[in-house]
Amino acid sequence: MKLIEKAAEAQKNAHAPYSKFNVGSAVVGESGKIYVGCNVENSSYPAGICAERVAITQAITQGEKSIKELAIIASSDKPCMPCGICLQVISEFASPDLEISLASKDQSKVQKLKLKDLLPHAFNKSFLK
Ligand code: THU
Repeated sequence: MKLIEKAAEAQKNAHAPYSKFNVGSAVVGESGKIYVGCNVENSSYPAGICAERVAITQAITQGEKSIKELAIIASSDKPCMPCGICLQVISEFASPDLEISLASKDQSKVQKLKLKDLLPHAFNKSFLK
């Protein structure tokens, strides 16, 4: 099954009663295993979390140290871009060359963009010295 289809399966479990914007994500860890996530909103709005961060934290919790593929699908007519917070989290665990697959709701449009093009000047641990 294609990674975007795994993301679409996870999207079905999105808890998004406030925005009604359902998102699913799937990542491949360095081991080759796939981890998925959906957005999980909260009545206290800032407590919600994006699908990408759920998928990545699942991977890291299972012992992965990095991710080598990432797919996102959202209930929008055009492919949905990861938010700034998610880009920062992705950059913690992926190479700048990571290719991110972004799909529209019916998967008719799939865009592939590199992390380094979405977040060209990332903050990272080199600044903490
Ligand atoms: N959302 C994601 O899950 N991923 C994104 O890349 C963009 C936004 C979620 C957060 C919130 O639950 C809803 O979409 C609307 O912003």
